[in-house]
Amino acid sequence: MVLAGGTGGLGSAVASRLVAEGARVILSFHSNRERALLWQDRAVVIQADLAAAEDRARLLAAAPNLYGLVVFAGDPARVNEPGEVEAAMRRSHEVNYLGPILLAREAAARMRTSRVEGAIVLFSTMQANALFPASTAYAAQKAALQHAARILAKECRGPSNIRVNVVSPGVMAAGMAEPSIASGKYDRFLQEGIINRFGRAEDVARAVRFFLEPDNYITGQVLCVDGGITL
Ligand SMILES: NC(=O)c1ccc[n+]([C@@H]2O[C@H](COP(=O)([O-])OP(=O)(O)OC[C@H]3O[C@@H](n4cnc5c(N)ncnc54)[C@H](OP(=O)(O)O)[C@@H]3O)[C@@H](O)[C@H]2O)c1
Repeated sequence: MVLAGGTGGLGSAVASRLVAEGARVILSFHSNRERALLWQDRAVVIQADLAAAEDRARLLAAAPNLYGLVVFAGDPARVNEPGEVEAAMRRSHEVNYLGPILLAREAAARMRTSRVEGAIVLFSTMQANALFPASTAYAAQKAALQHAARILAKECRGPSNIRVNVVSPGVMAAGMAEPSIASGKYDRFLQEGIINRFGRAEDVARAVRFFLEPDNYITGQVLCVDGGITL
């Protein structure tokens, strides 16, 4: 299995689950080497910027006969000043859409060549499924990712039987949402009774594991793991 961006808050939970089941796991990170090296005894760890073609190729080359690809890499594309909007949108395009979708396409091509009926899982967000003010830079690229993932699923159905699905988390008490939770930004979801708790990384791990099941009959789906926030 290749878990791209798998050293982060959600990726670590999935990696722990897969390693415990005996899977051979390759984790990629981008800039946080210290966090990534915590995994070096249990997994192969590779530095890769998914926006760079040569890094994507190096990552996939490390996994001949790849069965499972999960792409966690993402950037919250936070904007603090109006002047930062354009840069945030460009960064979001690269990290939340372009890199993950190109990697997924390249992985699917390799699976087809090696005749592996594989599984690909991409990561979106609740902000791509409901409208949250001030999330344009982040959410619109994730919405594009969902659409592209469904196109890829259609291209991969049939004899090649490569399943492509998307997990769309809500507010998880792990990874990139931790600073926002700590700031109280999402408390209203609890106070207004919209959810009964924030999500856990393990909630996401269960959904990913489901999509990685070798004999499942599900492709082109977006599974919201958000406790009902986007209903
Ligand atoms: N946590 C949540 O509540 C939540 C909610 C909705 C959606 N999501 C989505 O879930 C996914 C995982 O998020 P997370 O919470 O686990 O975030 P995280 O802890 O920040 O992890 C993000 C991962 O992506 C990697 N990454 C960042 N930029 C990259 C690049 N250019 N190329 C390759 N890898 C890159 C990071 O590597 P380094 O750390 O080494 O830089 C890290 O491994 C993301 O796609 C996010 O949008 C999360």
